[in-house]
Amino acid sequence: MKRSLFVIFTVLVLSTVLLAACGGGTTTSSEPEPPAEYAGKSNPFGNQADAVAAGEALFAERCASCHGPEGAGDGAAAASLDPKPADLSVKLPEGDDFLFWRIMDGGAMEPWNSSMPAHKGILTEDQVWQLVSYIRSLPQ
Ligand code: HEC
Repeated sequence: MKRSLFVIFTVLVLSTVLLAACGGGTTTSSEPEPPAEYAGKSNPFGNQADAVAAGEALFAERCASCHGPEGAGDGAAAASLDPKPADLSVKLPEGDDFLFWRIMDGGAMEPWNSSMPAHKGILTEDQVWQLVSYIRSLPQ
């Protein structure tokens, strides 16, 4: 009797642990969180049309060679890159602070180790937010 209770208890505990381990990943994104310097920042331009237009021009100039003219990850340089440029027209991470961070600091860090260039010191913060406005305007 005691023994079978112990077995039932063990099975219950194990299944709870397993469920927690599996379920945890489904609700939250697996993307790393932006560092404190960027966390919680919000786009001052939102989806304003002039910011989207300014971002579109910047994108054509600085991003399309890798990410493609429509952000689909199919720029001229994409074939030779590993990892491939992100397809910005399919899935975008939720946080604008995340996108701002990724454009500012680029991909030369864990877990990406990619050729995504950093733009801090090259573009102004306003320009980077305009790029975020443009990327968000792409059909998802
Ligand atoms: C030299 C090629 C290259 C250029 C130029 C480039 N990127 Fe990237 N980008 C990448 C690669 C490769 C990745 C995928 C790996 C990574 O996330 O670091 C990426 C990832 C990203 C991501 C992360 C997307 C996600 O879903 O996590 C964003 C946002 C982004 N790029 C925006 C831009 C913007 C905006 C520009 C122009 C200012 C730009 N990139 C210019 C190569 C490039």
